[in-house]
Formats: sequence, C-alpha cells, structure tokens
Amino acid sequence: MISKQENADLTLLNTFRLPAKASWLVKASGEAALLEALDFARQQKLAVFPLGGGSNLLLARDLDALVLQQLPEPLDWSDTGGQTVSLRVPAGYNWHQLVLETTSRGLFGLENLALIPGQAGAAPIQNIGAYGREVSDCLEAVEGYWLDDPSPRKDKLAAKDCALGYRDSRFKRDWKGRFVITALQLRLQKNAEPCLGYADLADRVAAKKDLRQQQEQACIPLPRIIADTVAEIRREKLPDPQELPNAGSFFKNPLVSREEALALSKDWPKLPQYPTEEGVKLAAGWLIDQCGYKGYRQEHFGVHASQALVLVHHSQVGKASELLALATSISDAVYQRFGVRLEREPELLD
Ligand code: EPU
Repeated sequence: MISKQENADLTLLNTFRLPAKASWLVKASGEAALLEALDFARQQKLAVFPLGGGSNLLLARDLDALVLQQLPEPLDWSDTGGQTVSLRVPAGYNWHQLVLETTSRGLFGLENLALIPGQAGAAPIQNIGAYGREVSDCLEAVEGYWLDDPSPRKDKLAAKDCALGYRDSRFKRDWKGRFVITALQLRLQKNAEPCLGYADLADRVAAKKDLRQQQEQACIPLPRIIADTVAEIRREKLPDPQELPNAGSFFKNPLVSREEALALSKDWPKLPQYPTEEGVKLAAGWLIDQCGYKGYRQEHFGVHASQALVLVHHSQVGKASELLALATSISDAVYQRFGVRLEREPELLD
C-alpha cells in the first residue's frame, strides 16, 4: 500500500524549513509498496527523488518529481555466535533510534554517530560521520533498486564498491538519481576498543564510568554510555532543527596539502588541523569564526552562536536564495583571509 499526495508541500519535510512543493509525495511501507511507487512514477513520467529526514537538503525550487518517503520497517538481526552481529536496517528507519537500539544491546559500531538527524537510508550517501567514526566503518552492503533499466532492478552493492569517503560516495556522484536505497547491511562488534580520540568525549565518558563504579549502579553497556555522551555534546553545540531550522554542518572541513597546512600554521598557529591519508583537514568552523561570523544574522538566516559551521533559519519565511547569498559571503571572507575554499555539505536542488 502506498499513500499519494499531489502538489505536496515539502516545507515541513526539510529541516531548513525552506518552502518547496513536489509534483507528488508518495509514502511507501515495504518492498511491494516501493515497487508500486516506482511504477506510478513511470506512469507519470516523473523522476524519483528519495527523501529521508530532509536533514541535508537545500530546496531552492519546486520538485517536478515523485518524492518518495520510505516508512520505517523492523530491523532484522542475525547473530551466528561469533564476535560480530549482522543487522539489516530498512532505509526508513530513524538513525538515532537505530544507534540507541544497537548500543543498548552492548554492540559497538554506531555509538559515536548518536543524534545525527535523518533516516538510515541516507547514511551512506554522504557517509555520515562524527567524533572520529563514519558509517563506512561498519557498513557491509547497501540494498536497493537501479532505476535506469526498463523496470527497476534489485541489487546489493558491497560497501567497498560505493567509494565511501569524507562526506562522499558514488551515490552523490555517478549513481545520483539512479539508485534507490532500500536497506543497509551493517556488521557490529560485541567487543571493541572505543574510539575516544576527541578529548572532550574521552573525559566525559571516563567521568561517567567512575561515577557508575562508585554508585554500583546497574550496568549500562559502554557503547550506550558513549552514545548518550555524544548526544549530550551535540545537544550543547548544535541547534535542534525542530527549534531552529538547520542542516547540520553547512560546509565540509576543507582538505589541503601538507605544505599548505604547514604554511597556514605559521600564520595561524591556533588553526585546528587534522592530518588524514589524503592531506590535512582544517576546521572550517574555526576559519568562519575567525572571520567574525559566529552569531551573525542577516535577516532570516544566520550563523549559529555556538558552532560557526552551522547556518540557521531564524524566521521560517526566508528563501533559499538569501541563505545561499549568506553562504557565499562567508566562503568569500574565508577565502580572502586564509586562501582556502569552502565546499558546501548539504545537497542543493536549484
Ligand atoms: N571551532 C571554532 N569555532 C566554531 C566551531 C568550531 O573555533 O565556531 C573549532 C573547535 O574549537 C574545534 C574545531 O573547530 O577545535 C572543530 O570543531 P568541532 O569539534 O565542533 O567539529 P567540526 O569539525 O566543526 C565536524 C563535523 C560534524 C561532527 C563534528 C564532531 C564536518 C563538516 N562536520 O564538525 O558533523 O558532528 O565534527 O565530530 O565534518 C554534520 O556533518 O552535519 C556535522 C554536524
């Protein structure tokens, strides 16, 4: 069964609350319903645009498309008694709910990715990440349908073939608009060394473990303690899209060569730098902050007061063009001062 709505308003379905309409909005629960929705799109000669939580989108126009929402379906666990547990996660499953359920069972893998908005199906598209972990660390495969053939073709893509990188994958590039993700296959660990490279996270987790030992309270699994701590930190730094519309980080942390990073550190010794295999990542939030934009407001849009990497929609009546103008003035200021180009993170539909 599917539910269909023609000329549907998408304002409440994107976390920036940008006004836009879709030719059709179709909600599908389960695989048979998904195929019915794809068939309907074909009849209407409309492109299919899968929409997850709408938390990484900049809607700058109406969508002449069938916007597809997959409703949550149950998780499918498989524990064959070894050190790992396999899990099939339907695309419509809420991401944070998934993190809470897996970590409460004491499983490691998703604990650092707590409180990321959106649905599971969107996670591999930009390879969501936080606090030193990315979904690619435990993603085995992605299930879905190719839309290029005369009729939709089911496929299971190995994660290693999806070119998952920093906020990047083939789903954003050559597979864009061609593949609808229906489920993720994850492998989680029963025992693992926690990834606590961020000092703030490590300190808070250590304090909680000490407290728990002193109080001899019922044991909460370590992955769940970490997930709760990550959620706590995110709540402090990042605005809740329900209260202040936003799409998380608006820019990626720019990647520069080791030589450029070294030259920048001479002029700006405090600039946070993160060496990676491909080069050195710079903290875009710090660069924007140094240009004086933290807390800045330009009519309906602004820069969040506690994290300069997040742009926010203050009034709920702003237009995407105003938001993009603010983003351009920020990236121009950063380029003038540091010679570094910022790249947008959310997907722009213009
Ligand atoms: N900083 C400032 N001023 C600011 C913001 C940050 O000086 O206004 C400095 C911080 O003090 C810190 C550094 O910049 O030294 C990095 O900041 P933070 O640890 O807050 O993380 P981030 O690099 O800004 C990234 C991700 C976030 C993720 C956090 C935690 C990107 C684009 N963003 O932010 O992801 O939650 O790390 O791991 O990689 C998202 O993608 O939507 C997102 C929120």
